[in-house]
Amino acid sequence: MNPLIKWPGGKSGEYKYIKDLIPDYDKYIEPFFGGGAIFFKLEPKKAIINDINQDLTNFYQNIKERNKYFLELLIFFADEWEAISNLINEKEKQIIHLFGNKESAEVDTYNLLFSEYTFKEHYIDVVNLKQQIIKNLKSKIRRTKKITDETTTNDDIVRNIEAAVKSGIYMHFRDVYNKKIRELTSEEKAAVFFFIREFCYASMFRYNKNGDFNIPYGGIGYNRKNFRLKVDYIASNEVFQQLKNVEIFNEDFEDLILKKATSKDFIFLDPPYDSEFKDYDKNPFGKDDQKRLADTLSKTEAKFILIIKQTEFISGLYKSRGFKIESFEKTYLYNVRGRNDREVNHLLIYNF
Ligand SMILES: C[S@@+](CC[C@H](N)C(=O)[O-])C[C@H]1O[C@@H](n2cnc3c(N)ncnc32)[C@H](O)[C@@H]1O
Repeated sequence: MNPLIKWPGGKSGEYKYIKDLIPDYDKYIEPFFGGGAIFFKLEPKKAIINDINQDLTNFYQNIKERNKYFLELLIFFADEWEAISNLINEKEKQIIHLFGNKESAEVDTYNLLFSEYTFKEHYIDVVNLKQQIIKNLKSKIRRTKKITDETTTNDDIVRNIEAAVKSGIYMHFRDVYNKKIRELTSEEKAAVFFFIREFCYASMFRYNKNGDFNIPYGGIGYNRKNFRLKVDYIASNEVFQQLKNVEIFNEDFEDLILKKATSKDFIFLDPPYDSEFKDYDKNPFGKDDQKRLADTLSKTEAKFILIIKQTEFISGLYKSRGFKIESFEKTYLYNVRGRNDREVNHLLIYNF
């Protein structure tokens, strides 16, 4: 099976390094679950999954419970995404006309599209929604006009307007996610979290100093993203069956491992790396946490496999504990601006 959500550091690619190593086990335990790529490859019958990110575990909990309103919200997002595309297509000619005629066409474009449109009750605050759409139209129209030349087609203009409207909707729900409007119920939180994760730029995580998530909309390439396909998968019987016997926790790894893992269990661990880039992260994982993890793994009776990026500090932590250590190369899949893809040496550490 495939993961349900895109997550930084997803481990599908690493499966090949560990698949022949995996021992027989009673229960599968994954303390740093994230997107759970290895879990979905293995499809264990009995499992404990855990992550310190509460939005993430709440999301899985809602899927496991097949919460009705959560699924209704996901379907609303899928419907709305398609409805907005259709609306824009229907009004293509007028959109181009407004774009060409006026200095500032954002309010006219908004009225053209939405004066007869009924916003569903699933939006949290229509006033905020309208402000966000107009604001995004304004900046998009200004920027598109700047770069318009003889190579710009009408279709380019329409797709940019579509991106502006969708960015406005995304920003509405980003405000909602950042609690700018009202507290959400857990099912609302789970659905909005998933929507934001799917449509934010390159699945990035970054928070400003007030703790607000601040990644913008993914852009034109996300206008036609097939969100419905993902919703169908999340709501599928296959996923339900897989999560049925899974216990979901939202704890720090240490207690979870020491209290829940027995000698019959198998733990797969993909913890955050030992790195200096911490400011984007709400749950920083420092050298003291790395040490705590190594100590916890020395104490557990369960079999484990740990995958981690090699640094001097990490090698030092693990080399004299009697574990088996192998290494492999990993290619990062996407560029962080200004940096090139690079090979990084990873360690595979296990105790059986
Ligand atoms: C590298 S990611 C895991 C990626 C995952 N293997 C996948 O395939 O998508 C590490 C995860 O550890 C979680 N985490 C960070 N600190 C933690 C802690 N102290 N206890 C438990 N989980 C933690 C993060 O929220 C993040 O989801």
